[in-house]
Amino acid sequence: MTNKDIFKRLYEVIHPYQVKLIVAMLAMICVSAGTGAQTWLVKDVLDKIFIEKNTFYLELLPLVLLLIFFLKGVVYYIYSILLEQVGQSVIRDFRLDIFNHIHKQSLSFFNKMPTGTLMSRVISDVALIQQAVSKALVGAVRDFFQVIILLGVVFVMNWRLAMITFIVLPIAAYPIVKFGRLFRKISTSTQEEVAHVSNILHETITGNRIVKAFTKEAYEGKRFQGQVTRLFVLTMKDAKYRCLQHPMMEFIGGGAIALIIWFGGKEVIGGDMTPGTFFAFLTALIAAYEPVKNVTKINSTIQQGLAAAARVFDILDIEPEIRDKKDAVTLPPFSDRIECKNIRFCYNEEEPILSNINLTVPAGQALAIVGPSGGGKTTLTNLIPRFLELKEGSIVIDGRDIRDITVASLRNQIAMVTQQTILFNDTVRNNIAYGDQEAPEQKIHDAAKAAYAYDFIKALPQGFDTMIGEGGARLSGGQCQRIAIARALLKNAPILILDEATSALDTESEREVQNALENLMKDRTTLVIAHRLSTIKNADRIIVIKDGVIVEQGTHDSLIAQKGEYEMLYTMQYT
Ligand SMILES: Nc1ncnc2c1ncn2[C@@H]1O[C@H](COP(=O)(O)OP(=O)(O)OP(=O)(O)O)[C@@H](O)[C@H]1O
Ligand SMILES: [Mg+2]
Repeated sequence: MTNKDIFKRLYEVIHPYQVKLIVAMLAMICVSAGTGAQTWLVKDVLDKIFIEKNTFYLELLPLVLLLIFFLKGVVYYIYSILLEQVGQSVIRDFRLDIFNHIHKQSLSFFNKMPTGTLMSRVISDVALIQQAVSKALVGAVRDFFQVIILLGVVFVMNWRLAMITFIVLPIAAYPIVKFGRLFRKISTSTQEEVAHVSNILHETITGNRIVKAFTKEAYEGKRFQGQVTRLFVLTMKDAKYRCLQHPMMEFIGGGAIALIIWFGGKEVIGGDMTPGTFFAFLTALIAAYEPVKNVTKINSTIQQGLAAAARVFDILDIEPEIRDKKDAVTLPPFSDRIECKNIRFCYNEEEPILSNINLTVPAGQALAIVGPSGGGKTTLTNLIPRFLELKEGSIVIDGRDIRDITVASLRNQIAMVTQQTILFNDTVRNNIAYGDQEAPEQKIHDAAKAAYAYDFIKALPQGFDTMIGEGGARLSGGQCQRIAIARALLKNAPILILDEATSALDTESEREVQNALENLMKDRTTLVIAHRLSTIKNADRIIVIKDGVIVEQGTHDSLIAQKGEYEMLYTMQYT
């Protein structure tokens, strides 16, 4: 992405706040004009008060000065608050955009993008863009006007002396350009390292139990140390140039002042210039140099912002793999059958994970899917709600290809209980009512009862209002599963996809989860992946998936009689 492209797209983002930005810039020009007036006053203060000892000016000038400072203060406030508002609005818009965009993505996107990287895009990259927009870009405009106004003052006062600036400015420009390139390069690497830092943080914090169980605190500490050290080294590299810049620019400025004192002093001594003009000139020039020195700082902020914007746009440019077709229709309430036709699927264009899958599940029936681990069961069930996009073959619901119906209407008809229980750090009630936040209390309680979760929820300190901790950390594994089942029950969708968790529960809670599942499957069309084969004895049909193909299918009894794969799995579990 070239700088031009980035600027063009940033402009689109800033566009709605254009008026505020323009008002801010006008206010800024007034501030610069105020600064120009202040330096001009120096001349009269010196000449009239200190040299002529004029008492009228002694009373007038401090008042004028006070007025200028006051007005400058007022417009300064206007301009800075407007800028802040635009900057913060840009941050808010960007964060919202990225968030919504991320949640449009398919599972494949999340398989590729680590959580920490995404978080650092939303949090720190966006903040860098804001800095570039509200501080740097606008700061650059302000400084530009300040330099122009002050140079105007300087040239009007003494143009011969002012020519010195033409010697100094090109010299000052050299480090500005030179360092700018370095800053951008370093910033890109820095942000990559920041993303790594947040990835390690995310993994080790959410996985802290495993870190403890394997006593890997020291190891993770080392890994983190390595990462923060890399960040440290890069930041210091950046700091080295930043810190060098200031004294360099000061020295160049000092050289200019020395030259001016020498030439200007000669003119004052020779009587060609009043001391007031000289000091006003010097003040204006020093004030004009201030923004020039700033340019380096602004430049580094802009470079960082551009690099961050490029990364954010990269994410925003990832087209969601799964989108509604233009003429997608709403799927009417499910009534007839789900068909899988000749499905072939692979994650990475290599070995197919699933091939030649043909299936029909009539409405109201339960299909059980069993088979050895890694066979492709979860993958198959992720295809039905279009979490993953099918490239070969098709899935047809009530005669409609799922790619021809809207994603929302498809997913609204499917309730899911996933293999890994996923709960949010919220109250029990909100977790159960996730699919229907307006659900009446009674429905929530009914769902909890049917999921065999009511009793333990009632026993919690705040009942349904108990916060369950991140991912349900304050509940047991079986309790989490039952809340997930209650959540699926409450959604009350006609199609149910159940990926039974393998975690070993004790017989008591296993029976409760089992009963809860039976309630869940009642009167629904169910695809159930079963690891405990007792779950599926009553299934209408059982398919066995091994290495991505259906190797056997039939009822429990017929499969036992076949003495094949299923019979083997069954005897392994129950003898
Ligand atoms: N995101 C992914 N990217 C690449 N390969 C994947 C991905 N997810 C799963 N796989 C591979 O696909 C195969 C099938 O995985 P899947 O999760 O569907 O198995 P499963 O039958 O559900 O196994 P289990 O019984 O252990 O849950 C596995 O070999 C796995 O390595
Ligand atoms: Mg699985």
